[in-house]
Amino acid sequence: MCGIFGIVKEHEGPLGETLVGAARRLAYRGYDSVGCATIDASGKIDLRKDVGKIDEVNERLNFNEMRGQRGIVQLRWATFGSPSQENAQPHLDSDGDLVGVHNGNIVNHVSLRDRFLAEGMTVRSANDGESIVHAVEHYVDRGETMVDAIRAAAQDLQGDYALIIASNDVTGSDGALHAVKSGSGLVVGIADGATCVSSDLPSILPITNKIIRLQDGEMVSLWPDRIELRRLSDGEIIEREPEVFTEGMEAAEKGGYAHFMEKEIHEQPKAAAELIHWLSASPFVPQFLDALSSARHLYFVGCGTSYHACMIGAAYFNRIANIPASPVLAPQFTETLAPILTSDDAVVFVSQSGETKDVLNALKVVRPTGAKILGVLNVIGSALMHLSDHYLPLACGYEISVPATKTFLNQVVLFLYLADKLRVHGAKIDWDEIPEIIERTLVSTKEVAREAANILNPYDEMYYLGYGLTLGVAMEGALKLKEITYAHCEGMLSSEFKHGPLSAVHDGYPILFVTAPDDAAMMVNHINEVACRGGRPIAIACEDGLLRKHVREYIPLPDVGQEIATLVAVLPLQLISYHMSIERGIDPDFPRNLSKTLTVD
Ligand code: AGP
Repeated sequence: MCGIFGIVKEHEGPLGETLVGAARRLAYRGYDSVGCATIDASGKIDLRKDVGKIDEVNERLNFNEMRGQRGIVQLRWATFGSPSQENAQPHLDSDGDLVGVHNGNIVNHVSLRDRFLAEGMTVRSANDGESIVHAVEHYVDRGETMVDAIRAAAQDLQGDYALIIASNDVTGSDGALHAVKSGSGLVVGIADGATCVSSDLPSILPITNKIIRLQDGEMVSLWPDRIELRRLSDGEIIEREPEVFTEGMEAAEKGGYAHFMEKEIHEQPKAAAELIHWLSASPFVPQFLDALSSARHLYFVGCGTSYHACMIGAAYFNRIANIPASPVLAPQFTETLAPILTSDDAVVFVSQSGETKDVLNALKVVRPTGAKILGVLNVIGSALMHLSDHYLPLACGYEISVPATKTFLNQVVLFLYLADKLRVHGAKIDWDEIPEIIERTLVSTKEVAREAANILNPYDEMYYLGYGLTLGVAMEGALKLKEITYAHCEGMLSSEFKHGPLSAVHDGYPILFVTAPDDAAMMVNHINEVACRGGRPIAIACEDGLLRKHVREYIPLPDVGQEIATLVAVLPLQLISYHMSIERGIDPDFPRNLSKTLTVD
């Protein structure tokens, strides 16, 4: 997830070190390229950028020596356009008079780019961030002031983003930095003789703790001694007093949450919205769909959480798109299925990190068979990205906590989105509604998930049961519980329970059933097998009178159909694990013995 920072100082002087310091503070968000621009008192712009980590790019380009009165730095996490020097930010307008950066996605950038080219502008990259600069250029060229040009440009830019832009004009009211918040975070800092603006607090706090948080639909202009906050829609000035931030740096990085896991759970509506925006505008999606729909057989291959997403993805493709698809654990795929592949098959390799050795081993044995290699990954620039014939990003930004949460949800969102595009059964999904349904589920299950965690917490071994589409969800919930509570939890098919594990049931023994609406009647049979032996069934399901009658506790999902209920059912399971982990005094972000990226066999 990109990060942006800008600063305006009273006197021209060394700015490079300040920008590098801010970039280091933004680095935890994840990035693959970095760039700085400074503007001196005469309006001269110095722009340096490249692919790589801050310190190595700094060593090559010497950001530290950059001087000026205004400065901008951007860390880019590639989504539109590969990680490259030309796609790195900041970007200039056609004549090099404006310089700007953004964070987020400009989803209509392909059509905007065509428009800019038709207007004779110089477009230098494939990156959507360049569109913000040309969108402003368009209005500046027609004689608008920077403020009015930015307000007008914001009407042309679609997507969730925040931007910072400046002109080399140092006359009149300019000599300012301007920033817009439209969906992505933006905070202003007010110091003595300087003001600054950033994607988030960690890069501002070493400079000042006097901050103003922007709301969506607002823009701010910054000078060394004052700021002007206004509404984008009508230009009306907004008065807002700065607040004094008293918490420490770690709290700032966690955005007010106690742990990264909690933060990442709550980022899911936003992460899904960004992915859906991206998918709807990406030229890579049609290529990916072609490869999927022309395959004789699809295999979904991954490990751990990514494998559970594969289980749900394959089931979506079978049921929705009528395409034969099988989920397989990566090492098992290497040993049993890879040898029988042909060039008519396609394999979807799924990995948050894109570096999991088990997954890369499987990929290596697929290459000689001629089967299509498709990648789904979160980390841009990873080995999986480079080794795939086609890849799609999960667009989640950096996931710090070891337990995967937002990347799992976005894996499932992505598979449902692709299956929906190839749909032959059932009604199309309204994708605009999905982020709100995710948000609603988080809000409505919050308390009841905490109560369920209290019920489960005294037990050190338990079962989560799913059926059909929800089997992968139950298994993912069980993995999350094992990972961060150190309890044993088995996720399995509810109909298999009677074939052995039923003997574990005793008085009061809790068992969690994850159910999608069409399976409620079948699930009631499986619930009864447990209930009549003294077990304590807990259901996660959309509202269903029959189910409710047969369980002790009910965690209700919004009233959505089979496919979307499967997608959101994982949210209360993530919350249950999180609460139990805290109750047990475990740090959920860094559970013992585990690592975020497993590059070993
Ligand atoms: C998930 O919470 C785990 N940390 C783990 O199972 C993980 O999903 C697995 O190691 C695969 O990682 P990947 O998605 O980066 O390939």
